[in-house]
Formats: sequence, C-alpha cells, structure tokens
Amino acid sequence: MKSMFYLTYASRMTWCASVNKDVFTDIYRTSNTFNATQNITGFLCFGNGYFFQYLEGDESKVRELYANICQDSRHKQVTLLSTGYLSHRRFVAWDMAFINMHSPNIHPEMVDFFSLLTPLYWQNADIERMIELFEIHCNTNQFIAKYVHADNGSAIYRYAALHHLVRQHRNFLILYSILILIWAVVMTLLYLD
Ligand SMILES: Cc1cc2nc3c(=O)[nH]c(=O)nc-3n(C[C@H](O)[C@H](O)[C@H](O)COP(=O)(O)O)c2cc1C
Repeated sequence: MKSMFYLTYASRMTWCASVNKDVFTDIYRTSNTFNATQNITGFLCFGNGYFFQYLEGDESKVRELYANICQDSRHKQVTLLSTGYLSHRRFVAWDMAFINMHSPNIHPEMVDFFSLLTPLYWQNADIERMIELFEIHCNTNQFIAKYVHADNGSAIYRYAALHHLVRQHRNFLILYSILILIWAVVMTLLYLD
C-alpha cells in the first residue's frame, strides 16, 4: 500500500536572504526541530542561488508545511515540481538534511548535476536523479552535520556568485578599466597643459 506522501519544489533565494550570514543555519534549525515533531523527513539543497527540497510524511502535514514555506520571504519563484505516494519512507534517518553545493568536498557528481539545469525546470527524471545522488553520496548523519556546520551561513555562496559574475563580465570590465585609465591620463595631460 502506498501511504507515504512526498512533495518536491524548487525556489530561488532572495537577495536579502543571501546577505544574511545565518540564513542556512536558521532554516536548518527551524526545519529540523519542526519536521521532527511532524514526522516529516527529507532534504534541502542549495546551489547557485536555488533551493531544491524533498519532503515526505503525512499528506496533510506535508502540504501544510509547504504552504507555510511558500510564504517565506527568504525565497521566491517557489515552484511545485512533483507530488506522489510511496510504500515506504525514503529518508528514515533525517528530519531535514541540508546540503550547500558551494561547501568543500560535496561530491562533484552532485555539484555538476545541480549546476547543469536550474532546478525550477527539472523534470521527473531530474528529480529522481537528484534524490538518487543524495541517497548515494550523503547517506550518513555525520555527513549532514558536517556540512551544515562547515557552512556557517551563506558567505561561501556569495563569494561564488560574485566570482561567477566577474568571470561572466570579465572582458567588459577589462575594457571599461582601460577606457577609464585613458580618460584619466588625458584629463591629467590637459590639466598639466
Ligand atoms: C528554502 C526553505 C526551506 C524551508 N524548509 C522548512 C522545513 O522543511 N521545515 C520547516 O519547519 N521550515 C522550513 N522553512 C522555514 C519556513 O518557511 C518557516 O519560516 C518556518 O516554518 C516558521 O514559520 P512560522 O514563522 O510561520 O512559524 C524553510 C524555509 C525556506 C526558505
């Protein structure tokens, strides 16, 4: 009998949340405490500005939690990806595991997969693959604890985002700097005249 309900969604972190260094720790702590009382298990991933969450448990409780999560101002574009029923719980050990893809030592297969396509556009096969990768690479409580505490906030993400932005606009930035330099030299020469 398939009595275990599951739900997945993806969303995008807001700028305001990304400048709060404790954002991940806050979400993780709330989730762990609350989900344990509701017998809801699953995991939350963050990478490149996007969240992906898998929740499983009693249908009304999971739907109620999801409705609450949708109202959270720390993320936007909250997109329901899938719902369904299972015969058993997949993540018995975790009330809510959390993975930040920008943390060191996250398995490259997971990081690459997460970067390939924005989770907002994932199809069923992508969702299943993500869950599978999580089961393969993150199957201990120690792993989860280690990566949550190693993060200590969103600083790693902000650095990665800045790095990405600079790399994307590198040529423009170089050209712009040269033009400013030429302008400064010309102005200095004119002034000296
Ligand atoms: C991406 C994301 C995932 C979240 N996941 C959970 C979760 O699994 N469980 C939970 O209790 N809160 C979660 N939260 C926090 C809730 O949105 C909300 O802040 C929390 O339930 C407290 O709600 P309340 O202030 O109405 O009591 C999440 C927030 C975000 C931004």
